[in-house]
Amino acid sequence: MAKELVLEPRLAVGAAGQVWGGLVEAAQFGMALVDFDARLMAVNAAFATLVGYTPAELVGLNLVDLCLEDERDTMVAAFQAFRQGSRAVAKFETTYQRKDQTLAAVAVLMSVATEPTQDRPLVLAVFVDVSAGRRADDALRAERAELGRMARFTTVGAMTASIAHELRQPLAAIVTNGNAGLRWLDRPSPDLSEVRSALQRMVTEGHRASEIISSIRAMFSKEQQQRRPVSVDDLIREVLSTLLGDLKSCGVALRLELLDGVHPVEADRVQLRQVLFNLVTNAMDAMKAVEDRPRVLRIRSEGLDHEWVVISVQDTGTGISAENMDRIFDAFFTTKSHGMGLGLSICRSIIEAHGGWLSAAAAHPHGSTFQVMLPVQTRTAERSTG
Ligand SMILES: Nc1ncnc2c1ncn2[C@@H]1O[C@H](COP(=O)(O)OP(=O)(O)OP(=O)(O)O)[C@@H](O)[C@H]1O
Ligand SMILES: [Mg+2]
Repeated sequence: MAKELVLEPRLAVGAAGQVWGGLVEAAQFGMALVDFDARLMAVNAAFATLVGYTPAELVGLNLVDLCLEDERDTMVAAFQAFRQGSRAVAKFETTYQRKDQTLAAVAVLMSVATEPTQDRPLVLAVFVDVSAGRRADDALRAERAELGRMARFTTVGAMTASIAHELRQPLAAIVTNGNAGLRWLDRPSPDLSEVRSALQRMVTEGHRASEIISSIRAMFSKEQQQRRPVSVDDLIREVLSTLLGDLKSCGVALRLELLDGVHPVEADRVQLRQVLFNLVTNAMDAMKAVEDRPRVLRIRSEGLDHEWVVISVQDTGTGISAENMDRIFDAFFTTKSHGMGLGLSICRSIIEAHGGWLSAAAAHPHGSTFQVMLPVQTRTAERSTG
């Protein structure tokens, strides 16, 4: 029967001492023998690996100096307590700066042990790398913060943020038309009919802005929303007419495949218009970066099983990476320098509130397709009446 090993430093002599030394050297945990001034006297291979020095370089170095500057106090305090005899054990986490300047999060366990031959007090220290655990904690904290932000967004901020997002376009149009009107007036012989049309467009955009505010308020209020039969095709044409100038200046060719006669849907017209507007704006943004192929915007409407109306908005733009595909509908997710990251989250809330679906997929060979599915009017009506 194997002789029982007594793993106590005081008895680490003779044959057992060799086994003990071998075990320390082979241990997966970093181990070190340290004097009362925190100077390293002996280290095992795992500790050397942990802090990125060779064992020979480590002997004689001070344990405190290896710590990240901001985190030295705990280590200093532990050794002070050891010297004063007020403590014999210390346990804490700290961060070591490796020789290559990278950082290692380390749990430290230290115990005062009196060396038997010279009756000299020393400190035995064990180090465990907790970087992986700390990274997981950080990720968890970040996730919690994100959830908190989302929760706040779905309450107070959502309405404000949505209004801010959706009013950008009509406000920009009002400013553009105001400036155009002023330029027409400033001419030596002012063209009053042009001024009148600019003012007319400002009035239209002003009305549009106030409709948007009401529809967003309705979206967030608890009252039943006002829904009416809406022809999807008419709505698509209306949105495209407001964006025609932008499409042209962006060099986008338009392919419309409207299946006239598709059943109307029962919807808040203003909200649905905003959905199409946001999808087309995104498609244009995605194509602006493309120089080596035609920029084509294809919009289709079709009926499905007499129950659904499907609207597809397809572009030949940059496409969406697989990694981002899961996140594009999240509020505040954007890859654009001036984006709010709200367009798609607003679109999805609106479509889902209408009993429909909004999804995205890669288009072939390039670009993306966004698909809106809405129940046809009869279905919604049946549902809402029971
Ligand atoms: N048609 C598209 N092609 C490629 N990427 C797209 C397309 N539509 C959306 N995306 C990606 O999804 C992200 C989120 O879109 P979303 O409309 O929610 O916000 P945004 O366009 O970035 O900003 P905002 O609409 O608030 O101005 C975009 O930043 C972009 O990365
Ligand atoms: Mg957008």
